[in-house]
Amino acid sequence: MNSVYSRLIVLTISLVGFLNCYCQVVPSELFVENRINPIGIDQSNPTFTWLLSSDGKNKNQSAYRIQVGRSEKMGSSEIIWDSDKINSHQSVNVEYSGPELQSLKKYYWRVKVWDEKGKSSNWSLTGSWQMGILKPNDWKAKWITVGYKEGPERESPMFRKEITIDKEIESATIAITSHGLYEAYINGKKIGDAFLTPGWTSYNKRLQYQVYDVTSLLKKGKNALGGLLGSGWFRGFLAWGGNKDSYGRELSLLLQLKVNFTDGTSTEIGTDESWKSHKSSITSSEIYKGETIDARKEKNGWKMPNYNDSDWSAAILKSIGYEHLAATYNEPITIHESFDPIKMITTPEGDKVIDFGQNLVGWVEVNLKGSQGDSIVIEHAEVLDKNGNFYTENLRAADQRNTYILNGKDSESFRPHFSWQGFRYIKINGTIDNISEENFKAVALYSNMRKTGQFNSSNTLLNQLQHNIQWGQYGNFLDVPTDCPQRDERLGWTGDAQVFASTAAFNMHVNNFFTKWMKDLEADQLENGSVPFVIPNVLGKNASGSAGWADAATIIPWNMYLLYGNEQILKNQYYSMKSWVDFMKAQSEDDLWKKGFHFGDWLFFRPEDDNDGRSAITDKYLIAQCFYAHSTQILIDTARILGKDNDVNEYERLLEKIKAAFLKEYVTPNGRLVSSSQTAYVLALNFEMLPLNLRKQAVERLVDNIKSYDYHLTTGFLGTPYLNAVLTDNGYHDLAYTLLMQRTYPSWLYPVQTGATTIWERWDGRKPDGTFQTPGMNSFNHYAYGAIGNWMYTALAGINSSRKKGETGYKKIILKPHFKNNYVSDKVSAENDGEMLKKVEASLDTYYGRISSNWEYINDNTILYKIKIPVNTSAEIHLQTGLQNILLEDKSISLSRDVEILKQDMGSTILKIGSGNYVFTIKQ
Ligand code: BGC
Repeated sequence: MNSVYSRLIVLTISLVGFLNCYCQVVPSELFVENRINPIGIDQSNPTFTWLLSSDGKNKNQSAYRIQVGRSEKMGSSEIIWDSDKINSHQSVNVEYSGPELQSLKKYYWRVKVWDEKGKSSNWSLTGSWQMGILKPNDWKAKWITVGYKEGPERESPMFRKEITIDKEIESATIAITSHGLYEAYINGKKIGDAFLTPGWTSYNKRLQYQVYDVTSLLKKGKNALGGLLGSGWFRGFLAWGGNKDSYGRELSLLLQLKVNFTDGTSTEIGTDESWKSHKSSITSSEIYKGETIDARKEKNGWKMPNYNDSDWSAAILKSIGYEHLAATYNEPITIHESFDPIKMITTPEGDKVIDFGQNLVGWVEVNLKGSQGDSIVIEHAEVLDKNGNFYTENLRAADQRNTYILNGKDSESFRPHFSWQGFRYIKINGTIDNISEENFKAVALYSNMRKTGQFNSSNTLLNQLQHNIQWGQYGNFLDVPTDCPQRDERLGWTGDAQVFASTAAFNMHVNNFFTKWMKDLEADQLENGSVPFVIPNVLGKNASGSAGWADAATIIPWNMYLLYGNEQILKNQYYSMKSWVDFMKAQSEDDLWKKGFHFGDWLFFRPEDDNDGRSAITDKYLIAQCFYAHSTQILIDTARILGKDNDVNEYERLLEKIKAAFLKEYVTPNGRLVSSSQTAYVLALNFEMLPLNLRKQAVERLVDNIKSYDYHLTTGFLGTPYLNAVLTDNGYHDLAYTLLMQRTYPSWLYPVQTGATTIWERWDGRKPDGTFQTPGMNSFNHYAYGAIGNWMYTALAGINSSRKKGETGYKKIILKPHFKNNYVSDKVSAENDGEMLKKVEASLDTYYGRISSNWEYINDNTILYKIKIPVNTSAEIHLQTGLQNILLEDKSISLSRDVEILKQDMGSTILKIGSGNYVFTIKQ
């Protein structure tokens, strides 16, 4: 072949390849029930989601085809379901609708897509999932408990059993759950990387089990299975007043192993009366108190085969049943970041203290050497007091103390198993002298959700605020959303979770986490529809029904629908949502809800503490009426989506009456609210409680109120999340920005300035004079006020999802960035040295891929706005400037084929774009 000809062929091939790769829409990541290759799910029709990628602009999916098979090879005889080509742009939550799926079976799937021009991709890589144990009858294992008498300290029990496998293993799967927390082992190795399993649910109604692939842990010949249990949430001390045994008194284990052999046969082995039990070296373990391990009591080799367990007692069978068992829907708790000490100090009081530099939740691993019987005692604290001493008063009755007694081996390492601590500092005591920083490492534990959001700006304090919001989330998203992770509380407070849920969805993939928690909310909801203060409910029936707390029942599912396009959660929770609204209705007289106990605008700013005699108290029943309306509105919107027209009509009528009653009771004819607090105006405006003609005045009253506090907020848990959004939406964005940048208390940046590394429970947890707020209620890791994160993403960076049906979950993106952020207070401006916000970079990983919204001033009046829009979505960009001031890739917008102009007038422009990367230059 002559060389010119061959070069031409090469050129043509690469050009075709280039064009091909340039335009092609390709399925990249695959998700089943929102997780990658999950093991142990019990949805009979699991949902598929695939991420699409492609260079170029305006790329969309026009059709898809899914195949599900029994083996990774996906040979034609192994395919059990083929959707065939479906003309649809749906790439999120497509339901499986093939033949019935079998217990513990592993399935494989792949997808191919057609782009907007009808061009098909190759098959994706093959993904998989494995079913859980689908029917109670499929459980062959038996529940077991210890066969000896437990001591008063309730030592952690061990269980063991040796088995012989005499055939070649092809695969092995184990399903485990427990009453109490478990760790399980095969041949000395811990099964899986999850901790604090089986997590926390409303145990007596819903107990999750975990499924693990243990093929690599088993071998032909003798194998040892082991289990270790701790009291945990099941029977440990929980809440207050010595409350324990919330779900029962005895710890129990349920474990079922299925081994498939290469010859096509299989065997099942489970816990039963042939298992042995013994006390372990964990002599006590409690969530709040901490753990004590006496390594002298360690039974060496108990997790390995050929261990002599003749002095162990036979396990006892328990009839607990299987009906309430459920596969784990959320991501389990795993280990994340680790921290080396940043310094070791001796405090003025003479304590040896290590600072890890970050308030975190998890535990400290200790590696050391000492003599037999030596001990080391580690206490944990979030802060040092103003004199630099170790401060634990705010932990109330939680000791947060781990004690290790050494065996005397060459080197020993310790960490708790069934307890965790919230801390930045540890205090070390004990009998070992030569201890140094190298002996300690802190590790963070939290539910293993994908981190989906980034927010970064030109302002370091704002960046630290974002860091604190994220760390507040990590530490309190341990299987359930907790209020705080350190004191004797750590409960799933509904109010806290409700106010933070949308911010949480910016930072991490919380869809499954909240879906699971909502199931427990429904499980624990009272018969009359009232919703407990905490979920799972360990406070009793009377602890329920507070406005703004119980509304987690409606607000969280609705947020999951808006932010993830999760319609299923609306279906699942509809009854629960409706029951909650019906409860409020039943409590009301003349459509006014003025009954019962309410937390109100919890921890609002109390000016009387600062001796100036003013008050930011908001009438609790005014708040209740606002949330009554809000939940009813959500119910109506939900009913409309689910096609429940009768409910739409019925509750629309109810909502009118609720609002009319509000006006009559709480609003003067002139539009003044009976509580003239920021929270009252914020809620009334945000939940549209006021007729149009009264809104403007309400906004002005809110603004005046903020000014009267010298540009400070006074809101508590319920008003804070909406404060800045209400200001921005009503034309006072600069005021919202000024509140954000306020450095003096009460404000978001005040704690940041004092060195906080997480969000505090109170605006003034540490006062300007260095003293602390009352120790009875002063956590330094409470995410609720971190709810400002939502506004940072949605208003500063401008990332929003459309709220219209079919467009939620960022199928249609609304970008509304605010480039102009001015101070309206000279004082706040001076505090910030007049520094303007020059840059905001934010991104969010959605089910369609990454959205980025990055803006930066390149000179005093020119902004570079860089956007990334994922394949198979579109975006509206709302800019507060005229079209003539906007260039796309240095060209006039009207010349661009990639942009549609939806609206233009002097001061504002709305553009529509499809997927791709865009760089706009905008003149102010
Ligand atoms: C928790 C809160 C919770 C509250 C109820 C507190 O003890 O820490 O965050 O919402 O009780 O008001």
